[in-house]
Amino acid sequence: MEKKKLYIKTYGCQMNVYDTERMVDVMAPEGYMETDTPEDADLVVLNTCHIREKAAEKVYSDIGRIRKMKDTKKKDGEEMVLAVGGCVAQAEGAEIMKRAPVVDMVFGPQTYHNLPDMVNQSLSLKSQGEKSRILDTGLAVDEKFDQLSKKDVKKKATAFLTIQEGCDKFCTFCVVPYTRGAEFSRSIEDLVKDAEKLAKAGVVEVTLLGQNVNAFHGVSENGEEWRLPQLIRRLAKIDGFERIRYTTSHPHDMTDELLKVHGDLKECMPYLHLPVQAGSDRILKAMNRTHDSASYKDIIRDLRKERPDIAISGDFIVGFPGETDEDFKETMELVRDVKYAQAYSFKYSPRPGTPAAEMDDQVEENIKSERLSRLQALLKQQQADFNNSVIGKTLSVLIEGKGKAEDAVFGRSPYMQAVQVKVGADKVEELQGKIVDVKINGANTFYIEGILA
Ligand code: SAH
Ligand code: SF4
Ligand code: F3S
Repeated sequence: MEKKKLYIKTYGCQMNVYDTERMVDVMAPEGYMETDTPEDADLVVLNTCHIREKAAEKVYSDIGRIRKMKDTKKKDGEEMVLAVGGCVAQAEGAEIMKRAPVVDMVFGPQTYHNLPDMVNQSLSLKSQGEKSRILDTGLAVDEKFDQLSKKDVKKKATAFLTIQEGCDKFCTFCVVPYTRGAEFSRSIEDLVKDAEKLAKAGVVEVTLLGQNVNAFHGVSENGEEWRLPQLIRRLAKIDGFERIRYTTSHPHDMTDELLKVHGDLKECMPYLHLPVQAGSDRILKAMNRTHDSASYKDIIRDLRKERPDIAISGDFIVGFPGETDEDFKETMELVRDVKYAQAYSFKYSPRPGTPAAEMDDQVEENIKSERLSRLQALLKQQQADFNNSVIGKTLSVLIEGKGKAEDAVFGRSPYMQAVQVKVGADKVEELQGKIVDVKINGANTFYIEGILA
């Protein structure tokens, strides 16, 4: 078979990272090999994110860049197919087609399993000299997973497994319910099969993915109604899985049973990404978050009872419409109270079609910037404090790749910290994919370092 090159640029969240990996899987039998530069690719896919304005705008500037490469190839008599997938495609597919004629096809997060067909169709239309353009943004999910489950998995130490998609929560700032569609949980039977396949391929750490991963529910092999805790317990029994993580969770679905899994199960890693968004109850209400700051802090307290060393991560939005200095102060107080091991924080970005974009009293840009830098300074300090707190300890680290220095490897601690481990140049290769004990002897804001214990 003729070898062709596929370049995919991934924007946005881990769901998109997962989708990109699957696109590579579906194109492999068609003779497409992944490449890390777009210039000489036969197929370029932009797997896009619509969550904030900046992310979406970047896509159009990237399309402009790729257009030049496509023109150069054309002069040499070669075709490049340019596809835009992901959440911008879902939200504004028709607009992309209009605004960027150079784009050959647009497809959403739920139709990319059809990529081989779409590419072949596009190429045959091209060879007939017709203007070939394809728009496929349906939102039915089940067919996609049926198709994807049939593909082989690559050998690696850590892998994502999407168990749930979409969102019914409709936070007033967020586009996800519109770009990914309604909440959908995959069948437990299929998930167990996929998980066993991963374990066989050598995966020792699996991260269960979903926009609302803890809203997962399904019917088990013996007819019981299961939610995420039962699924985690089942997957932990699979030979080879030593670490299980899940993301992203909503406070609304943090059940007691799920908290208990953190206390009971050594495979369940002591790290939880639990976005709160804001500390002011008035703002949380306007965001339609369904939790308040007290109920969020209760969850963290109960979680720490189960697993005292658990590392907490979060997401924050500053400058949501109507946010006053007083409201923002409450966010800072909540952060001081919870003490995050790491976090993501953003300026509120009005998104077309969401209720918050229509609200009065939008906050001025300079106020948003000022609040964001104050919040980020505090979060950064907390991250440094957390990293410093593990100096002198021995942590188990899953080695994922080569380190910054020739004689070092890179991995993750149970708490999701990035770890640089000095091992000696001769050991760099053999340690890939292994879990090793590391004595931590240094730390800064973004990573910790150590030596084999
Ligand atoms: N499902 C997850 C997060 C999905 S989006 C949850 O419920 O928390 C990831 C993060 O992007 C959100 O947690 C939020 O902090 C941020 N985000 C979403 N919409 C945004 C917007 N309009 N402006 C700024 N940040 C936003
Ligand atoms: Fe967006 Fe809220 Fe759904 Fe998270 S829970 S994806 S923030 S609507
Ligand atoms: Fe972005 Fe879509 Fe993920 S909007 S954050 S890529 S679900």
